[in-house]
Amino acid sequence: MAIKTLSPRAQASRSTVALKALMAVSGLIMVTYLLIHMYGNLKFFQGQERFDSYLEGLRNILYPYLPHGGALWILRVVLLGAVIAHAYSAVALWRRARTASARQGAKRYHSNQNRRGVQRSYASFTLRWGGIIILAFIVFHILHFTAGVLHPGGDTDSKYQAMVNSFSIWYVTLAYVVAILAVGFHLRHGLWSAFATLGANTSTKRRRNLNIFATVLAVVIAGGFLVPPLSIAIFGYGS
Ligand code: HEM
Repeated sequence: MAIKTLSPRAQASRSTVALKALMAVSGLIMVTYLLIHMYGNLKFFQGQERFDSYLEGLRNILYPYLPHGGALWILRVVLLGAVIAHAYSAVALWRRARTASARQGAKRYHSNQNRRGVQRSYASFTLRWGGIIILAFIVFHILHFTAGVLHPGGDTDSKYQAMVNSFSIWYVTLAYVVAILAVGFHLRHGLWSAFATLGANTSTKRRRNLNIFATVLAVVIAGGFLVPPLSIAIFGYGS
């Protein structure tokens, strides 16, 4: 009996769907982390002792079943896997789209909207450049708060104090504000694309509701992240 195989075209479209699903699932893992991280950061307003002991408590999750810091390391591995999967599928899908358009890329869509006569999609611009800014920010952020290699405003063992020291410097706050806004825009478009990939936008009404949901979640996450640094920078909170 002959074995039925998919045509090359069908195989390509099936693996494009797989890449999009990988992108959506890895993105949703990161959104969940961001929501929890943002909520945790708001404990800053409970004062130094409670904020620092909350962060120390994260190292004791499932202790003594896991060693001290064990759960945090599992989370780090999952997050790193999600970042790699997300970046890999973004690059693979982008290369595929470029090949499919005979390397014409965005030039397929001519318009008089800007100097170059090329209509650039707002979403693709936000997702691509936003993604690159966020990746650079994460490297800086880990060196700053997790590894403590960078300590603008002074070295300290307290993460609460590190936040106060850092966000008392205007350009550190500005860098965080830019990165958080990039996260907000990226989230808004990314969430919307994820819902589309997962087939959730089946009617005009559902599309509108998902659009509202994506916007609200992006505003809540970005807004929540912005409150501690801006309170320190503008109102001198904590000093
Ligand atoms: C004002 C905004 C933010 C502040 C004040 C902040 C603060 C912190 C602090 C204090 C830590 C260290 C936690 C610990 O070692 O116990 C941390 C870790 C981390 N943050 Fe943020 N964060 C912010 C925004 C973000 C954003 C927007 C992202 C992602 C896009 C992010 C991703 C991470 C990651 C991946 C870690 C490492 C977790 C680990 O390995 O322990 N953070 N953050």
